[in-house]
Amino acid sequence: MSTTENRAEFGSTLGFILSAAGSAVGLGNIWKFPGKAYACGGGAFLIIYLIIVALVGTTVMMAEFTIGRKTHKNAVGALRELNSKWGWVGGLGILTGFIILCYYCQVGGWTLYYIAAYITDVQTVWADPMAYFLGMLGANGFPLAAIIWALVFLFLTAFIISHGTAGIEKMSKILMPVLFILLIGLMIRACTLPGADEGVKYMLHVDFSTINTTAILTALGQAFFSLSLGMGVMITYASYLSSDDNLISNTGIICVLDTCVALFAGFMIIPAVFATGIAPGMGGGFAFATLAGVFMAIPGGQFMGLLFYFLLFFAAVTSSTSILEGTVSFLVEEKGMERKKTLVIVSCIMFVIGVFYTLSQVFMNLKGIWISKDGLQFPIFGDFLEYLTDRLLLPLGAFFTTFFVGWIWGTDKSIEEATSDGKFKFGLAPVYAFMVKFIDPIVIGVIIVAGMVFGMAIS
Ligand code: ALA
Repeated sequence: MSTTENRAEFGSTLGFILSAAGSAVGLGNIWKFPGKAYACGGGAFLIIYLIIVALVGTTVMMAEFTIGRKTHKNAVGALRELNSKWGWVGGLGILTGFIILCYYCQVGGWTLYYIAAYITDVQTVWADPMAYFLGMLGANGFPLAAIIWALVFLFLTAFIISHGTAGIEKMSKILMPVLFILLIGLMIRACTLPGADEGVKYMLHVDFSTINTTAILTALGQAFFSLSLGMGVMITYASYLSSDDNLISNTGIICVLDTCVALFAGFMIIPAVFATGIAPGMGGGFAFATLAGVFMAIPGGQFMGLLFYFLLFFAAVTSSTSILEGTVSFLVEEKGMERKKTLVIVSCIMFVIGVFYTLSQVFMNLKGIWISKDGLQFPIFGDFLEYLTDRLLLPLGAFFTTFFVGWIWGTDKSIEEATSDGKFKFGLAPVYAFMVKFIDPIVIGVIIVAGMVFGMAIS
């Protein structure tokens, strides 16, 4: 069953660009990227990441955009319309997005928790940032407040989505420019702190001996996560576009914006960490416990910290809405479910699974309910969800999407769609076709296999 008549469209090109950039720019850029860049050696990782985005990221995004706009359908319906045997690739993307959103909304809730804490109780946060962070996650008892904030975050996401593309567009037009201004301001402030130059040097120092299979895998998974690829989102968003929209320039703009935000975040967080001499904590604690120590040590830290968590929240909510839209549009259009009812059901399931993500960080370990191999640092359930999506499902989704476009649907048809039947110029079309047909599936395939063979070194 498919109900795609009277589908909404984005009201303007700017609305689409900001919505798609809003989807791309998220916790991946600010919560994940700086920690990974730091752990994988700084400058050399940045170069690998930029190459992957420029070659693989842009072409996978273009492939997803052309599938979505050609069919004006959700991810499953779109693939199925182009070839009746390939709907499952869209389903794989939606499943991946669904799993990501289960934990994404929890971390989104943590940002709200910290906003509230910076307004009402910053001295307690600063008294012992790590203890405060662990306390939020259940070190002192059931983490009810963190879970309630996650529920609030999920409710906000569902509320925005209940207004369809108009809600997404309206929110993105306001939040995205605010996010850019905040981020640039915070980056300049962080880079001008005394001692910050060591962090800037670290980020610019290129030493390729730090690049191994793990670093390349990390960069690839990070690029897909950050650009919202392999999760059905960009297919769904492009399905709300008309042939008047230029997919070629939009792809370039969105990839550049997303990458700039990741770099800005890296050049905000790492120099600040060096300036204050606080050891960067890895994983979930990076943007919370470590940065609390940073904000405590700089002038105007309470205000800066508040701005930062607002920024993290804006980035998270513009992404969570896009991922939820992917799942909801599938259920509404393919299964004939009513939109608001679907939102409630999907949100409830996501919330229940997500609660285990938060509980598994600390609380379950302490209670001995969940045994983790290295104590609190590597919560198994939380790590499992992230590894499953970043290391396996996202690359698999991108692999099958490019294989589909390259060998089943055909790059000529994809290029026809990209140019709106010749209306827009696409000078790099032969490069795109070559990448999608040969390089992307081979590179992504090899990296997936290498990931399985060489294991899971860091997140
Ligand atoms: N692309 C989104 C992010 O980076 C999911 O957080």
